[in-house]
Amino acid sequence: MNLEEIKERGIAGIKEAKTFEELEAARTWSVGRNGVLTALLRSLADMPIEERRKIGPAAGVLRTELEKLLKRKKEELVAKNEGERLFDVTKPGKKASLGHLHPLTRIDAEVRAIFSSLNFSVLEGPEVESEYYNFDALNIPEGHPARDMWDTFWLRQNETPNSQLQIPNKSQFQNSKYGKLLMRTHTSPMQIRYMESHNPPFQIIVPGRTFRYEATDASHEINFYQVEGLMVGRDVTLANFKFIIETFFKKMFGENITFRFRPSYFPFVEPGVEVDVKIAGGKWLEVMGAGMVHRNVFNAVRYNPDEVQGFAFGVGLDRLAMIKYGIPDIRLFYSGDLRFTNQF
Ligand code: FA5
Repeated sequence: MNLEEIKERGIAGIKEAKTFEELEAARTWSVGRNGVLTALLRSLADMPIEERRKIGPAAGVLRTELEKLLKRKKEELVAKNEGERLFDVTKPGKKASLGHLHPLTRIDAEVRAIFSSLNFSVLEGPEVESEYYNFDALNIPEGHPARDMWDTFWLRQNETPNSQLQIPNKSQFQNSKYGKLLMRTHTSPMQIRYMESHNPPFQIIVPGRTFRYEATDASHEINFYQVEGLMVGRDVTLANFKFIIETFFKKMFGENITFRFRPSYFPFVEPGVEVDVKIAGGKWLEVMGAGMVHRNVFNAVRYNPDEVQGFAFGVGLDRLAMIKYGIPDIRLFYSGDLRFTNQF
């Protein structure tokens, strides 16, 4: 490569460098230890004297020039970097995006607040349950056709007992009344757990996550939330239930809410009812199952069914949120789609 070419490419390389890395590459290429200009200067010794006289001084001048350009460019890059790092008070600020509560969390908080104002206690229970609490104690023995009402996620049994959930281990299970482990299909098992350790009168709600092994659609998820309610005393009646639910709905949805009670069947209540709320388009959406606690349930917790009575209900939290916010499809809640959640 002749001197002219080295000059042209060397200067261009320095001028075009936008980063320290690019500048260093330009330096290495020309005046670096193995650079083209360095090689040329080294080869001078082997040249005929005339050529050496001609090229030698010119090569030396080029070297000085390139080194000057390299130095200047380096200072330029340093200055530019510093400038970018400094805080520019004239720049518009970055908009901080605030987090917010998920619509289901908001409904959950509202439900807790409303029932607290009606003097209900709020408690929670385990999501992993035993067959006994989820079914048997609720008057749904093994083989009872009503078990088909709740498609169940059954769990593989562990060898170690889980003291936190107060669930015995496999061998204890097989010989005990507790049966197999499962993901609770409803919050009703907490009726049993609570009554086993408390005496009436009381009124409680139990919000929590529930699981069903079923096909999803616009109003069904495999994982959803329920709020269980239970009020037991000497003379608690279905009229009390209707008053509580009417008060709850009006506080939740406003005075103009339209709802209806429909006779229904659940093994752990008698009589049983279901409650629907009128939604857009004049359609009805089922939101809860309820009824008067069945004698067999009281027997299971050693209450005397001739001395106490009460009502229980299980309301779908997701369905309440769908009504409150006019959401047509329950699956949106679990989609993780920010275009949806950011609307709340
Ligand atoms: C029950 O789960 C009963 N444990 C309710 C009950 C409690 C009855 C106490 C009597 C006394 P059901 O399967 O109908 O019943 O569910 C109750 C409510 O949970 C439904 O009305 C609905 O609002 C909601 N729900 C049920 N399945 C789903 C699902 N797959 N996705 C979303 N919500 C559901």
